[in-house]
Amino acid sequence: MKNKLAKPFLKWAGGKTRLLKQFELFFPYELKSGKIQKYIEPFLGSGAVFFHIAQKYKIKSASLIDRNEDLILTYKVLQENADDLCDELEKLSKKYHALNQNKKEKFFYETREKFNKVKPLIDYKLFNSLWINRAAQVIFLNKTCYNGLFRMNKKGDFNTPFGKYLNPTIFDCENLQNVSRLLQVAELKSGDFHIAQHDLSSKTFIYFDPPYRPLNKTSNFTAYSKHEFNDEEQIRLAKLFYGLSKTVNVKLMLSNSDPKNENKNDSFFEKLYKGFAIHEVLSSRSINSNGAKRGKIKELLVLNYSMDSDSKHIDDSKQLKLFV
Ligand SMILES: C[S@@+](CC[C@H](N)C(=O)[O-])C[C@H]1O[C@@H](n2cnc3c(N)ncnc32)[C@H](O)[C@@H]1O
Repeated sequence: MKNKLAKPFLKWAGGKTRLLKQFELFFPYELKSGKIQKYIEPFLGSGAVFFHIAQKYKIKSASLIDRNEDLILTYKVLQENADDLCDELEKLSKKYHALNQNKKEKFFYETREKFNKVKPLIDYKLFNSLWINRAAQVIFLNKTCYNGLFRMNKKGDFNTPFGKYLNPTIFDCENLQNVSRLLQVAELKSGDFHIAQHDLSSKTFIYFDPPYRPLNKTSNFTAYSKHEFNDEEQIRLAKLFYGLSKTVNVKLMLSNSDPKNENKNDSFFEKLYKGFAIHEVLSSRSINSNGAKRGKIKELLVLNYSMDSDSKHIDDSKQLKLFV
């Protein structure tokens, strides 16, 4: 059981599982040679990159952050009590799978309503008995809702509709146990990405995976929470990137969509990250919500280091003044 690799236990918009092979080429040399021991991921989502790094390299500690407090609660429950979470999920999925499709849909909406109703009663700071049930609901709703989207309305209610899958796998207890083991080195925090700057130590690698900048008006999903991640947010993040890059020994990697996929004159990120190393990777996600434009599209990776063995610091931050 211990030999099987831990993998994301949630479907997540912008999940990076399919890009890991390409990312490997761009991870800093110090991570590969074991000199980097601390890993920070301020936009955790389904954790694909953390799971990969924590199983392949010698990470002694990790700081994992996401603004979605129910997501972080779920990780914390897994970290503390994977057994009880598996039991709760077993009950939930047995009930669900025993129903016919109409009743499944009804059960989904009832669970969604309970999930939203209970929210004001949840103390997100203190582990308590409500957490286990809530974490099970997060996983259940994620696997049975439309496309695994964690979408919220302005009130902060989860409002993704039923996914109409015939027989979805809701959880894999063995994987949850493996994930739980990996999370033992991690400190989990719900909050804004800027709190990442309080967790630095020497020899740190930070990977930023913010919500994609939409390629056009109909594409892409940025509503992971009631807060929108617009261009001002991308600029606020770039300021943090610049600030951190001045910190000795911090290696930074950031990914986003390449606006040039849709408009070859849109150099938003080239301007924003001028002075850093910008590389391209290819992704097979679709640009358009109707799937008409499926095919490989370009994504950008911004690094503040070179990829050779001396991992030279690359930083010429004058250009950010353009945006401030
Ligand atoms: C593109 S997803 C990350 C995907 C992740 N790398 C994976 O493989 O699943 C972006 C994440 O950023 C989170 N987020 C959005 N705004 C944020 C903010 N201001 N601070 C921290 N996290 C934020 C969202 O909740 C979402 O989980």
